[in-house]
Amino acid sequence: MSEQFTPNNPLPQEAKLPAEIASFSPAVEAEIDAHLAKYPVKRSAILPLMFIVQRERGYLDPPGVAYLADRLGVRITDIWEVATFYSMINTKPVGKYHVQICRTLSCKIMGAGKITEHCAKRLGIKPGETTEDGMFSLSEVECLGSCGTAPMMQIGFDYHENLSAEKVDEILDSCSRGEYRYSMKS
Ligand code: FES
Repeated sequence: MSEQFTPNNPLPQEAKLPAEIASFSPAVEAEIDAHLAKYPVKRSAILPLMFIVQRERGYLDPPGVAYLADRLGVRITDIWEVATFYSMINTKPVGKYHVQICRTLSCKIMGAGKITEHCAKRLGIKPGETTEDGMFSLSEVECLGSCGTAPMMQIGFDYHENLSAEKVDEILDSCSRGEYRYSMKS
């Protein structure tokens, strides 16, 4: 009979973790330990730990992923499966300001396409790209749960709603001037 794999009995770790595994300061390790202590099953802490690794390293780079797999006792593949599902987890480097525009139905009907076009023209990049100066990345993402105030976009963890081209310009201008202040910590 084949072995049953459950969250309590995960698939075995790859035989060997990659040579390079990220390391963190004692303060960050303590933060990670505190999250792990909240859950009876270590892998349940996957999202909070991913956010910490992303915050510390800018994105989930291979050494960061190897670290997560090691701390959570799961396979590298398990980490990538979760990381590639959530648009708030970056699997490649992003600019200082990551502009994520919702392209799902309500936002689409309310003009998200035009907002994306406007941002792309203004920043000189296409969705999925980062400006040469590393300031802005542009992404199109699925519903961010703010359908009643469409069209909308997210920068960091901040939502910007009922967007118009003018409103987008104001926001991007404040980023370019270094005056943009996140209201929520990312
Ligand atoms: S459709 Fe855009 S937030 Fe839901």
